[in-house]
Amino acid sequence: MNFERHRRLRRTEFMRDMVRETKVSKDDLIYPIFVVESDDIKAEVPSMKGVFQISLNRLHEELEEVKAKGIKSVIFFGIPDEKDPEGHGAYHDHGVVQEACRISKKLYPEILVILDTCLCEYTDHGHCGLIDPKTQDVDNDSSLPLLVRTAVSQAKAGADIIAPSNMMDGFVAEIRKGLDDNGYSHIPIMSYGIKYASKFYGPFRDAADSTPSFGDRRTYQMDPANRLEAQRELASDLEEGCDMMIVKPALSYLDIIRDVRNETNIPVVAYNVSGEYAMTRTAVDMGLLDEAVIMEQMVSMKRAGANMIITYFAKDICRMLDEGM
Ligand code: PBG
Ligand code: ZN
Repeated sequence: MNFERHRRLRRTEFMRDMVRETKVSKDDLIYPIFVVESDDIKAEVPSMKGVFQISLNRLHEELEEVKAKGIKSVIFFGIPDEKDPEGHGAYHDHGVVQEACRISKKLYPEILVILDTCLCEYTDHGHCGLIDPKTQDVDNDSSLPLLVRTAVSQAKAGADIIAPSNMMDGFVAEIRKGLDDNGYSHIPIMSYGIKYASKFYGPFRDAADSTPSFGDRRTYQMDPANRLEAQRELASDLEEGCDMMIVKPALSYLDIIRDVRNETNIPVVAYNVSGEYAMTRTAVDMGLLDEAVIMEQMVSMKRAGANMIITYFAKDICRMLDEGM
């Protein structure tokens, strides 16, 4: 018989382990946490079973679990008590994520803290920047100084990494300059510059109370149909000085993750977003799919070229890794 014997390398568990090309480890994982400013809340997000909104005064409970499971990195999202048209809570020195960061750094200085630089959780209209009253659209250039103030206040609170998700043009350049001018030239920027206007963010907007009160985000987030445009976003962010690049969402955009991996040598991050979590969580909880699909999805993001994964499944994955899956 004259054909290739591919099955030779699949014969035993040991053989399969030895030739495996992609592995997921706890070091890859970044866990998102929704922090509420007012006291004494721990509320499960209805569309995201197993994910909670948690008060600043109970944040230690969540951090203890993160630490115990072996997660090494978190990203905080804030739910402020008050919102206004300019999103003041985002750049308040004692805003909710700034305080969450201080608590985390005090209790567990070794946990790496990433903060998301955007205004949408803090504006009463729910958009990621300031609204121009004439056009009723988000105004790019007047939003930038507020985003810079947000990033600087986050660095001041002790953030290890600044992750701007606002999708204003020039945000990496402006935030880099703002950080440098204020003594934070050592703080890296993880840019969410490749962020599609996706319906997969629905559950996040419930959790963060950040659904726009009018319109949508299509004048600043990318059209899901565009692949080449991601190359242009990547090129400008690299030129402006980003240190790491996020692709978001992840699972319907694995081709984009692969493109970014092939185009650059900086770390690439996959954001396995809320809708992706909700879909898989529901199917697993209903018994329609085996839990192992969660790991299969993680492997697929890494195989596409991601170095790290922001995922609401981080705790589950740690447990599965501990169980030897
Ligand atoms: C804020 C932000 C969003 C997400 C992360 N940062 C939502 C949005 O653009 O509406 C989405 C995360 C998720 O769905 O898990 N700009
Ligand atoms: Zn936003």
